[in-house]
Amino acid sequence: MKKIDITTNINGIRLYSCIMNASGALCSTEKELSNLLKSSSGAIVTKSCTDKPRKGNIKPRYFEWDIGSINSMGLPNLGIDFYINFLDGITTNKPIFLSISGLSLEENYLLIQKANSSTKINAIEINLSCPNILKKKEILGYEFDTVYNFLKNVFRLNNKKHIGIKLPPYFNDNDIRNMAFIINKFPISFITCINSLPNGLFINSIKESTVIYPNKGFGGIGGTIIKSFALANIFKFSSFLRKDISIIGCGGISSGIDIFDHILCGASAVQVGTQFIKEGISVFDRLKNELILFLKKKKYYSINNFIGNLNKN
Ligand code: DHB
Repeated sequence: MKKIDITTNINGIRLYSCIMNASGALCSTEKELSNLLKSSSGAIVTKSCTDKPRKGNIKPRYFEWDIGSINSMGLPNLGIDFYINFLDGITTNKPIFLSISGLSLEENYLLIQKANSSTKINAIEINLSCPNILKKKEILGYEFDTVYNFLKNVFRLNNKKHIGIKLPPYFNDNDIRNMAFIINKFPISFITCINSLPNGLFINSIKESTVIYPNKGFGGIGGTIIKSFALANIFKFSSFLRKDISIIGCGGISSGIDIFDHILCGASAVQVGTQFIKEGISVFDRLKNELILFLKKKKYYSINNFIGNLNKN
């Protein structure tokens, strides 16, 4: 029996499994990151960090139901110095992605410079889609001119790491075409799409109230119900992006077949958020087994055989 190869390559970064965590899901503390290091995930991405530590919003700030999740966390994180110190002290053969989400463009430049001084970080995932910062409601990824100027400044820095961006979901063709046009002008290694769908509301019908407290109950939606939006964004971006830019799929993965679908639409690796929080660290073993079983059935022996091969009817 031929061995099934689920290793992958994000613009030269080798992953022994194409399945990793999504930023924000159980990747904020030393304990959580240590658990991820021991797991079968193919890479690790950290919680989006800021320069200074943040406590985040009041609780309850995360809620999940059968087919989705809602959050308004408010960027709780231990600050970039913690993440760099922790990561520089570990030994691992897993690629490490540092997610950053500065509260201003200037803060992002500082975070990138700090990340460049680390020995262990392989890549920086710049979060252009954080929806939950009070007072600063705009999502950077929806401000096209600002993104262009921001990236110009980012690539003027003396970068030593792969740079990727995490994008919000887009809902029409033109937005994806325009964003891809901007991205194609820069030596970006990968994009991660999609972040949560912003400004959702989930309510408790019995209590007649919202289920999370911050932001009047509004929050980013993740989980099974966003999978179709993730697939649409991955598939569209893969047709407009330069071929050397890898796509990491994120959104609605809870089975091996979900992973297959993301890859078929153009993802080279996938991130798991809501389902990881629901199920815990064993999710990586289960998903890996399910993916391998499905590939056997389909007679695919490597994910490279079908990345982006969705039939266009
Ligand atoms: C938070 C939520 C996000 O969707 C994100 O991309 C970054 C941070 C948060 O509220 O902590």
